[in-house]
Amino acid sequence: MKQGKFITLEGIDGAGKSTQLAWIAELLQRAGLQTVLTREPGGTAFGEKLRDLLLDGSFIVYPETEALLMFAARREHLGRVILPALAQGQWVISDRFTDASFAYQGGGRGLDSGELSILEQWVQGTLQPDLTLYFDVPVGVGRQRVSQGGSMDRFEQEQADFFQRVRAAYLDRARQFPERIKLIDSSQSLAEVRAAVERTLQCVLNYG
Ligand code: TYD
Repeated sequence: MKQGKFITLEGIDGAGKSTQLAWIAELLQRAGLQTVLTREPGGTAFGEKLRDLLLDGSFIVYPETEALLMFAARREHLGRVILPALAQGQWVISDRFTDASFAYQGGGRGLDSGELSILEQWVQGTLQPDLTLYFDVPVGVGRQRVSQGGSMDRFEQEQADFFQRVRAAYLDRARQFPERIKLIDSSQSLAEVRAAVERTLQCVLNYG
């Protein structure tokens, strides 16, 4: 059976990627593909428990603890959800994956990217997404959208300079992996963002 494709969505908090998730699934389903929508941290029952801990603003934890738990949740997610679905020919769309660890724990918290690469290699070997849509917005725009959304989690409570570092790390990765990571300007209107997403996905559908 033909292996499915693995698509990940990334961006700082408030970049609007979650809004695009349902639309992306619809586009792929219209193309006759079977899709699995999932997210990180999370995606399994155990991973969702880790997510609750990681997003709980009442804890202060070391950056290393945060990174290890992100990759622990990812190990479960890969083994129990992502890899089996791909093997069955399904297309997996994950709201965040390993680029978020490089952006948040690397850029935001200042962990060494070489050390994160060791965890990446340990947990996922050579597996990488086939396509990553990185929704880019200026930090001010993201902050404003998040603050309109009600209560804020442990990451959302961070200051603007944290998100400047996260965004810079995402932009660095987009430059480092231009074949895989496609930048979508998410400060445009919803219709323009949708059109950009559709153009990018069409390329994968046509040539994938
Ligand atoms: P998010 O997609 O923002 O959830 P929601 O849209 O429900 O707020 O993801 C939760 C947070 O987890 C987000 O602030 C980024 C953070 N995160 C990391 O710091 N490292 C990681 O490796 C991942 C996957 C997420």
